[in-house]
Amino acid sequence: MILRGFTRHDLAAFSGYRNKPEVARYQSWSTYSTEDAEAFFEQQHGLAFNADDTWFQIAAERKEDAALAGDVAVHFFDGGLQAEIGVTFDSIYQGQGYAWEALSRVIGLLFEDLKKHRIVATVDASNLRVQHLLEKLGFRREAHFRENIFFKGAWSDEYGYALLASEWRKQKR
Ligand SMILES: CC(C)(COP(=O)(O)OP(=O)(O)OC[C@H]1O[C@@H](n2cnc3c(N)ncnc32)[C@H](O)[C@@H]1OP(=O)(O)O)[C@@H](O)C(=O)NCCC(=O)NCCS
Repeated sequence: MILRGFTRHDLAAFSGYRNKPEVARYQSWSTYSTEDAEAFFEQQHGLAFNADDTWFQIAAERKEDAALAGDVAVHFFDGGLQAEIGVTFDSIYQGQGYAWEALSRVIGLLFEDLKKHRIVATVDASNLRVQHLLEKLGFRREAHFRENIFFKGAWSDEYGYALLASEWRKQKR
């Protein structure tokens, strides 16, 4: 994987995978148009990495053919001390370890280079694949929010996951 910022050249592939029903199922959107991708790019364009109270989207590209496989979103908050992550991969690139590789490198960057104290993720309680991925990366499920979000026509539960820098260092040893 090559991890980098988004370019205008990515937008067709980006809207293409985000618009797939199986990719959108647990996300805030149901469909994702090229106009949505353009608006996303305009909002991201020129955004500094590691700016507090912003979400920065990282593109994950396959080394062998430069295909855009997915993206990792990082929300910087708490005055530079903490970060929240989100992850979306094209269904044709799922189940192959790409999301794991991209996330583990982003987590390494956040803890080792940027010295964050804690990384969190909030996921739909029915989204078993993302829970499995987070647990494989060492995240602990530390909260269960019951019917806290009205999502796609029904009240849903969410889980809060977290990983501390000290836990990451211990697991790396
Ligand atoms: C959630 C999502 C990113 C999970 O991705 P994925 O493709 O299943 O993840 P990966 O293939 O990288 O990981 C799958 C497996 O490889 C493991 N793995 C891969 N490389 C590894 C390595 N080097 N060391 C250890 N484990 C590794 C993973 O931990 C996992 O374990 P398993 O073999 O027991 O299944 C993907 O399903 C997705 O994009 N879904 C749609 C969007 C979405 O719902 N996002 C979440 C919103 S909160």
